[in-house]
Amino acid sequence: MWTKESLKEVIKDRLKDHLFIVVSNREPYSHIYSGQKIKCLRAVSGAVTPLDYIMRVTKGVWIAHGSGDADKQTVDKNDEIMVPPENPRYTLKRIWLSKNEIDCYYAGFSNNTLWPLCHLAHVRPNFSQAEWDCYKKVNEKFANAILQKIGTGKAFVWIQDYHFAMVAKFLKAKRPDLIVAQFWHTPWPAAEIFRICPWKKEILEGLLSNDLLGFHLSYYCGNFFNTINKELEANIDHEAAKVSYKEHNIIVKPFPIGIDYELIASLANRSRKDRKLLTQKYIRSNYKYLCLSVERVDYIKGTIERIKAIDRFLEKYPEYQKKFVYLGIAPQSRMRIPVYQNLLKDIKNLVEKINWKYYSNSWYPINITEDIFSIEELIPFYKNADICMVNSLDDGMNIVAKEFIAAANLEKGMLILSRFTGTARELSDAILINPYDIEQMADAIKLALEMPLKERAERMNKMKEIVKEKNVYRWASKFILELSNLKPI
Ligand code: G6P
Repeated sequence: MWTKESLKEVIKDRLKDHLFIVVSNREPYSHIYSGQKIKCLRAVSGAVTPLDYIMRVTKGVWIAHGSGDADKQTVDKNDEIMVPPENPRYTLKRIWLSKNEIDCYYAGFSNNTLWPLCHLAHVRPNFSQAEWDCYKKVNEKFANAILQKIGTGKAFVWIQDYHFAMVAKFLKAKRPDLIVAQFWHTPWPAAEIFRICPWKKEILEGLLSNDLLGFHLSYYCGNFFNTINKELEANIDHEAAKVSYKEHNIIVKPFPIGIDYELIASLANRSRKDRKLLTQKYIRSNYKYLCLSVERVDYIKGTIERIKAIDRFLEKYPEYQKKFVYLGIAPQSRMRIPVYQNLLKDIKNLVEKINWKYYSNSWYPINITEDIFSIEELIPFYKNADICMVNSLDDGMNIVAKEFIAAANLEKGMLILSRFTGTARELSDAILINPYDIEQMADAIKLALEMPLKERAERMNKMKEIVKEKNVYRWASKFILELSNLKPI
């Protein structure tokens, strides 16, 4: 079993005197003004949450965009601050971006080009030369900040995600001796999808500048190899998972991400909140059964399809009317992008329509909150839900599904999980659904609510074992071990 302690050993043993640098767009902690006071917020996202646990152990440097309006007030002269605030363990170095850079690099090329290109949700990617140019400039800016931080020392740089396809190339151009690896947290699409991108070659060359590239699934690695095969003159050794391109070798392998199971399970053991008290702020109707979802407002998450499935469930099984409620914890993000604004409007209109359809004696089924919750605050919701619904249309992994499994009571909760999430490869004891099949999802809700206790407990238990074993410390340890085997220090 991989633990914090075993990860510490791996790092001590393998990285020795190398500075451990993580780079991501989203910062783990941001500072914002709340009236006259400054408040520190912890980010909640599939990429950032697991890495925060790792950084607490590794004590390295995390370089990220400083996005909070009070961020500049809280850093030192090097733009650095020690975090987490309650028990500082590692350095956060903030990079400042202009409004134009945020629009073109973050909202533009990262989230309006690469995000829809990598997720099969039938949203057309936008291709803009100006945004691509800006994306490269911001990648160079991050690379320069990393190089400055390293100075003449040795370092292991771990780049996160699709915001930084070109960082490895900029780093290696100046410091070929650095050990540079990247983890791509979204799916990698089929070659036939990626081929439409006008800058596909440059992106691939950028990624191939790493020493190691990780995806969640071998399926995404396979798509990546096919893409390389079609687009570049590179040699692929499938058995060794190695690509050789322009005299540089890179290993491409799957590393499915996990969560800190022990932490969540122990928080869940301590949490004693009664569910009516917990949900009274968000759900005004009386209810017996609670269905929960937790996700940023995003078209890949299948929110519209979920609400339609709940509508169908209540229509088809009317005995559940006035007993069943759904709570969607759905904070907003990326709202500068029109497709996200339109999605939010569509969700609101649909909720209004469905709630009006069923409204009776002050009961209505759909409840949505935009509030942001920390993991500690989410746990009682997970524990008190009869169903957690993760019906993404496409999703690299999905850690909410894993958090729910770690926190839920054996005899109470059940997970309804899209077959098109990375997590579905591991959690096959969930009720697996096709998120486009509304009828199937409606039946899955009934199945989850009526599942005999013994079967429910058995399935949940099996899933708990898997989530416990494939935890976040295993993910990071395996990644670092692979890297140090490639380039012995
Ligand atoms: C999701 C994805 C991550 C990505 C993050 C960015 O959590 O799984 O791969 O980094 O979104 O979200 P943001 O709110 O920072 O745009």
